[in-house]
Amino acid sequence: MTAVHHDSAARLWMLSTPNSCYVLRLDDQGRLRHLHWGAPLTPDQAAALPCVLDVATNFDGELAEEYPGEGGARFGVPALRVRYADGSRTTVWDHTGHTAEDGRLTLAFRERHGPLALELRYRVHPDSDAVERRALVRHDGTDGEPVLLQQVAAARWTLPLRADYRLSHVTGAWSAENQLTRGPLARAETVLTSRRGITGHQVNPWVAVDAGDAGEEHGEVWSSALAWSGSWRITVERTVHGLVAATHTAGHEGPAVTLAPGGTWETPVSVGVYAADGFGGASRAWHSYARSYVLPRPAELRPVLYNSWEATGFDVGEQGQRELARRAAALGVELFVMDDGWFGARKDDSAGLGDWTPAPDRFPDGLAPLAAEVRRLGMRFGLWVEPEMVNPDSDLYRAHPDWVLHEQGRPRTELRNQLVLNFARPEVAAWAHDWLDRLVREHGVDHLKWDMNRVFTEAGHPGDPDADRLWHDHVRAVYALMDRLRSDHPGLRIEACSGGGGRTDLGILARTDQVWASDNTDALDRIAVQHGYGQVYPPGTMGAWVTDSPNPLTGRALPLEFRFHLAMTGALGIGGDLTAWSEDELARAAELVARYKRIRPVVQHGRLYRLADAVQYVHGPEVVLVAWRLARPHGAPVVPLRMAGLDPLARYRDLDTGELHHGAVLAARGLTTGLTRDHSSRLLHLRQES
Ligand code: GLA
Repeated sequence: MTAVHHDSAARLWMLSTPNSCYVLRLDDQGRLRHLHWGAPLTPDQAAALPCVLDVATNFDGELAEEYPGEGGARFGVPALRVRYADGSRTTVWDHTGHTAEDGRLTLAFRERHGPLALELRYRVHPDSDAVERRALVRHDGTDGEPVLLQQVAAARWTLPLRADYRLSHVTGAWSAENQLTRGPLARAETVLTSRRGITGHQVNPWVAVDAGDAGEEHGEVWSSALAWSGSWRITVERTVHGLVAATHTAGHEGPAVTLAPGGTWETPVSVGVYAADGFGGASRAWHSYARSYVLPRPAELRPVLYNSWEATGFDVGEQGQRELARRAAALGVELFVMDDGWFGARKDDSAGLGDWTPAPDRFPDGLAPLAAEVRRLGMRFGLWVEPEMVNPDSDLYRAHPDWVLHEQGRPRTELRNQLVLNFARPEVAAWAHDWLDRLVREHGVDHLKWDMNRVFTEAGHPGDPDADRLWHDHVRAVYALMDRLRSDHPGLRIEACSGGGGRTDLGILARTDQVWASDNTDALDRIAVQHGYGQVYPPGTMGAWVTDSPNPLTGRALPLEFRFHLAMTGALGIGGDLTAWSEDELARAAELVARYKRIRPVVQHGRLYRLADAVQYVHGPEVVLVAWRLARPHGAPVVPLRMAGLDPLARYRDLDTGELHHGAVLAARGLTTGLTRDHSSRLLHLRQES
């Protein structure tokens, strides 16, 4: 069956993925109706589908429209809100044609009363259950009045009717990102949003809905995510008639921009994944989609990195960094990253941001000697940067006080003593490109940790009559800058960071190699942070460091092995003060780094299964299990760990002990982990016998 099927008699389109299908059609009044998103159907079966819902009374109207505008008996969440110069908002969309090729479908419409054209674009891939969508609005009048765009959703994802619904998403805060919540979906409009100019720590732009009957490895789950790193809004609507739809928009209240004649507005991509095999199945579908169609370098084995931030804070200097580099190299670290504090007058967070030249008091001969030493030790060299920011106490701000987001005569709110540079201004983006390009070129920088440590406030651009555009244009300029740097420096890696995990999304993952998931490096707290991260984003992109004990943030002491094992479930890094680690600790750490290098293809490229107090990865014949024990009352039963994703007919050899396990026994009876102490952990590496 072709990926995109068109039934011209039924005026119906069907997108097929290996395990799902998506159907829509024009009704007899020419309205685009959503018919189905779920289990695969044949074209004949699709043609027999009734509409999801059709309620029309004097008091209500519900049609399950694919992309509703305003006007007529429509009272739900609009996908599109426009205002013409005469104040009218009603739009009537006439279908004008479609194109379908290579898994892409574009449906075109023309507004009956005004100069607007609309395209709804869909894309599916042969080996993924993801459906990609976006919308494009064009002012195709050659002259005349501009039109105000108040909301242009990337997509509205409609679910089939079920007796009940549950909503899963993540909430959080700085150092407590990605806390998974799952509960009844209110008969209301549930709004998940960031008004902060960044993706945000508080909630991440994805939702999953099920009928209340899905588990980790069974049941239907409909999930959707917006690939966008600025403000956003997802409204999950559940009506009294049972309609459930999630509307995804970049911009918290929509774009609010003026579209002039000839202008176009294109949304970012929103992606939907239907899975019939539970939340675990949905996550695996997301990970495989991200690896195949989002990440710039999915086949890379993420290097083991060292980062100096927790060891030194701002107190960086050439000697101290050399000493850390020497110890990191001895552990087997492959990439050494110097964090904040290497430039300008940056001795704490009050000054220096914006002045991106090495601090002469700390690096009298520049960065070249340190970079050379790092390379001599066999590692790649990385640097922390925060290109979108400026401290008022900096030469850059003194020279260009107008470069920051601000409103005329209003206060300039400082957060962490810094202001946001307005990247929507071409001269600001050009300045950032100039110094970043020079920095990377001059020092052969292999890796940039690209931070963004505060949110937008007073987001204005005096003199620009369409200043609201900057909420979008800033993000697009950051994307363009990252893309340009990557293309000019093909070996360059970029790590996304925003006070930890505040900029984690599919948009940033399209131009970065990993994400710093949280500033919280306490391995116990990390269990929840990482559990939430992996719901949508691949574990191989999840930066996780081993740091000191007691943990500097939480004060909690945890065994070295436990800290390593939890960090080894993502892209392993080390961030402790290695000068304070004992010889025994350093020796054990070196063994664990070596072990990580053996298991990392499985962890970074494998299929993830979440078990009780364990995660498991399967990659070809190899299986890695990381199990841990939390604090448990004396006498609590010790239950074997039932593994998942194994061939019940196969036998698996433990590569450390040589022991042979039957797949069927590991799944049915489970593994005796032997974890008897609180905060003990175990790593198992198995290979399927041929
Ligand atoms: C942010 C990052 C940290 C560190 C500091 C440096 O908080 O998340 O990892 O880089 O900035 O100032």
